[in-house]
Amino acid sequence: MAEEIFAVCHVNDVAKRGAIGFVLARREGGKTIPFPIMLVRQGKSFHAYVNRCPHQGSRIDFQPGHFLDQGHRAIVCGKHGALFEIATGACTDGPCAGATLEKVPVIVDGEDVCIVGVDLAEEDGLDRPENDETPQIMITSD
Ligand code: FES
Repeated sequence: MAEEIFAVCHVNDVAKRGAIGFVLARREGGKTIPFPIMLVRQGKSFHAYVNRCPHQGSRIDFQPGHFLDQGHRAIVCGKHGALFEIATGACTDGPCAGATLEKVPVIVDGEDVCIVGVDLAEEDGLDRPENDETPQIMITSD
């Protein structure tokens, strides 16, 4: 089977040290199921992960669209505060230390950021940014 390549957004849709979420749809066992992912940018590098914390299976952005810690140096789970390396998805602190986010292969093709090798379903309209209304950089004070 040819490798699936699916453009999810333009490179400039993600701030240079930002992250956005999408709910795509993938085919699995004859069914179409939601496939929520997060896309994190570090300058010219993009990393994508399934938006599911290995601790309790919750979405990472407990507050929708909020994937990163204050310094934008790590992915943070909004539920219990687990921290994950942006480049590897490895949990470095928190209740699931040692676990890893599920990586989604991503490439940049020209100006498009593309998901590779996932059997995505396009026809049901789920391929939209999830947090259109949410600022891509959120700086909050505690
Ligand atoms: S569900 Fe993510 S740290 Fe608990």
